Amino acid sequence: MMKRQLKKNILCIGAGYVGAPTMAMIAEKCPDYKVTVVDINPVKIDAWNSDRLPIYEPGLEEIIRRNRGRNLFFSKDIEDAIRRNDIIFVSVNTPTKTFGTGAGMAADLQFVEKTARQILKCAESSKIVIEKSTLPVKTAQAMERILASGKDNVTFEVLSNPEFMAEGTAISDLENPDRVLIGSRETPGGLAARRELVRIYNRWVPPERIITSNLWSSELSKLVANAFLAQRVSSINSISALCEKTDADISEVAKAVGMDSRIGAKFLKAGVGFGGSCFKKDILNLVYLCRYYGLPEVADYWENVVRINTYQQDRFLATILSAMFNTLAGKRICLLGFAFKADTGDTRESPAISIAGKLLAEQAEVVISDPKALGNAAVDLADFAGRVRYVEDPYLAAKGCHALVIMTDWDLYRRLDYRKLYRSMVRPAFLFDGRNVADHAKCFALGFNVYPIGKPALSHFQPPSAVRG
Ligand code: UDX
Ligand code: ADP
Repeated sequence: MMKRQLKKNILCIGAGYVGAPTMAMIAEKCPDYKVTVVDINPVKIDAWNSDRLPIYEPGLEEIIRRNRGRNLFFSKDIEDAIRRNDIIFVSVNTPTKTFGTGAGMAADLQFVEKTARQILKCAESSKIVIEKSTLPVKTAQAMERILASGKDNVTFEVLSNPEFMAEGTAISDLENPDRVLIGSRETPGGLAARRELVRIYNRWVPPERIITSNLWSSELSKLVANAFLAQRVSSINSISALCEKTDADISEVAKAVGMDSRIGAKFLKAGVGFGGSCFKKDILNLVYLCRYYGLPEVADYWENVVRINTYQQDRFLATILSAMFNTLAGKRICLLGFAFKADTGDTRESPAISIAGKLLAEQAEVVISDPKALGNAAVDLADFAGRVRYVEDPYLAAKGCHALVIMTDWDLYRRLDYRKLYRSMVRPAFLFDGRNVADHAKCFALGFNVYPIGKPALSHFQPPSAVRG
């Protein structure tokens, strides 16, 4: 077979949930480019090179299989890769700081800074460095300053190209994005680098969906987009509390409100609270920035989005406790779902982590079921080893339990045989539906005491309107 000439070399540093799928899509759409992905974690690179990928994402495996070894490569040799590539995406983790100034709020930029220093150390030719990770506004300036401190004949242009894909739908989001945002300096060098990146996305994204801006607008837009999305979830969750007091139904309210074309129907699903690696981290980051720039009122406004999210989880636990006669000690409770949303095995910031912890604090026995997230769940709950059981089959997990608690909106939980589940459980049996996916009337008729989010509870002990005080 004749070896194809690959025209352009692209590197991504960081083979996580964002870096690897994004590069897989670039490799798929640009078969004449050589795309290399490196990571500081060799175990992760081995997994990307194996048949058991380190993350579950619908459609990803097929794309990796088609392109790996052809024009998509996963490598451990970061330094060599930096030398060989002139377009470098940086997609390393930017967790919330856990120490020092800004602990619990600001982004921890040590991984980004280390990457910038490593690029500087290894670069033998000029490069375009593209921020893919979500970063606080003005991070590019710090990157530029580090990169500018090197050899005179090697120059760097820093671009911001935030990724807006969501887990579970990453492949379709990458293939058909609402928009691609590219921020650059408005200097001749910055504009040339911007054009280079536009050319890559032009291979499959229509030109009107590729938008450009200055660096700071681009960095800030990513934080703001996530803050707005999370705000919608907190807004509807706050109203779900009022629905439970008034016998209004949150699904009916969300439908009526969302049909206003100015508001729109998406991200109005009430639930047990948002999770995921981005929302809380990005809002806290925004809050920190607002305080830093002397805008306490703006900071307080956004901080409340996170407060409502915590409140929603506390409220859910309070419902479980009060419905089950104010004691959970020795009762067996089955969590259906542990991932922060359906179609992913990711559990970062999943509400299930805090709910499981609170149930264990009440001395309940906890059984966890999830089709993709049990490995991560066991890591998250490592402190409770021996007190939690992990059972993939929901029917086996529910057997002998006093309550089912739906934590994740896996489609599977819509289609469960609730009659079979009910028959295997301890009576009175409870169903707490943190995602409103089950057929509540049907489950009530089977014998369950049903507690949805933002809808009247259906209890065999009390008339519906008296269930919540
Ligand atoms: C989010 C953004 O959507 C994406 O653009 C960004 O790049 C990364 O952060 P992600 O965290 O993967 O993506 O998932 P998303 O679909 O946004 O859901 C976040 C959380 O909100 C989940 O826990 C989900 O269950 C919850 N959610 C979402 C609701 O509770 N109700 C809704 O109506 C929508
Ligand atoms: P995200 O969801 O933003 O993709 P992840 O945590 O899934 O975040 O991925 C970030 C990846 O970046 C991790 O696999 C981590 O090992 C990698 N990483 C962090 N620092 C470096 C570094 N200095 N060089 C290479 N890879 C790094």
